[in-house]
Amino acid sequence: MEQPEPTTPLPSPPLPPGAAEVLRADHPLLAEYTSRYRGHPAATSSQWSRDYISSSIDMQQFRGHSGYVWQQWGEDVFRYGLTTYFTRLHDRLGLFERLDEDGLFGAETYDIDGARIGRDLLDSITELNFLGEELDISRRDFTILDIGAGYGRLAHRATTAFANVDYLCTDVIPLSTFLSRYYLDFRGATRARVVPLDEIAGELAGRHVDLAVNIHSFSEAPISSIRWWLDLIAENDVEHLMIVPNTDTRLLSKELEGPKVDLRPLIEAKGFRLARMRPKYPSEFVQRHGIHGRFPMYYFLFARR
Ligand SMILES: C[S@@+](CC[C@H](N)C(=O)[O-])C[C@H]1O[C@@H](n2cnc3c(N)ncnc32)[C@H](O)[C@@H]1O
Repeated sequence: MEQPEPTTPLPSPPLPPGAAEVLRADHPLLAEYTSRYRGHPAATSSQWSRDYISSSIDMQQFRGHSGYVWQQWGEDVFRYGLTTYFTRLHDRLGLFERLDEDGLFGAETYDIDGARIGRDLLDSITELNFLGEELDISRRDFTILDIGAGYGRLAHRATTAFANVDYLCTDVIPLSTFLSRYYLDFRGATRARVVPLDEIAGELAGRHVDLAVNIHSFSEAPISSIRWWLDLIAENDVEHLMIVPNTDTRLLSKELEGPKVDLRPLIEAKGFRLARMRPKYPSEFVQRHGIHGRFPMYYFLFARR
């Protein structure tokens, strides 16, 4: 077999058996979510229009370069190499020993000294170490609610890494609910549960949630939907809120028409205070030259007052 050039991504493995029968646009469960979500007050979308979804997401390659996890914004093996070594150096929780990458479903991966590395793995390790530092996630029973959970990237990583973490995924986009349900089941992530949009309010009633996370999703949603989510968080027993916006140090919505709305005053009005804000990579060099360096990211952590 011809070996790939060491500087190009590794070939993605073929679809696992049975995947093609489920990952199809005419699956009845996808149609069911679509009809159940119609008219829900949170289900207004801006960036996630029908066109955006169909042009950016290939259902069978949902871990590829797509609206879920963009992977080809000028990335190359050197950025991946730098980010891998930096992430290893700061991996206080030892997650590289517990998590791996197989490149399935189109994930773009590189061989870095014998390890298959992709953005899903690196981002998840960095986010979980942040939560380890700030909230001691590895040492106590911990429930996470992921709003805009994509295909279940962080749910898979968090529940694989920690036996003490329970994870709820929710979303307003039927395809995301459908794919995350398939993916988490495929990975055997039994402590991660996908809760359809029309069941999430009932699921949270009377339940303690240590942390709600919102990674690159409020930045892609209109304020009408974000208000619904913030009300839901405020009305329930949710202790912390982590947000990773697309817009560096600003927390902004994405509107179909008109200017983006600043979310920070709304979050504060709902009874949360900013506990921490820091660059994703606490190194100016890695922020700029690591993966995603063209769009340096920041982590925000809010705590209930
Ligand atoms: C860039 S993807 C990020 C996925 C995931 N958080 C991750 O980091 O892997 C954005 C996610 O936001 C979801 N989304 C779009 N509009 C939303 C809304 N109004 N409320 C909540 N989630 C939304 C999409 O379905 C998608 O799962």
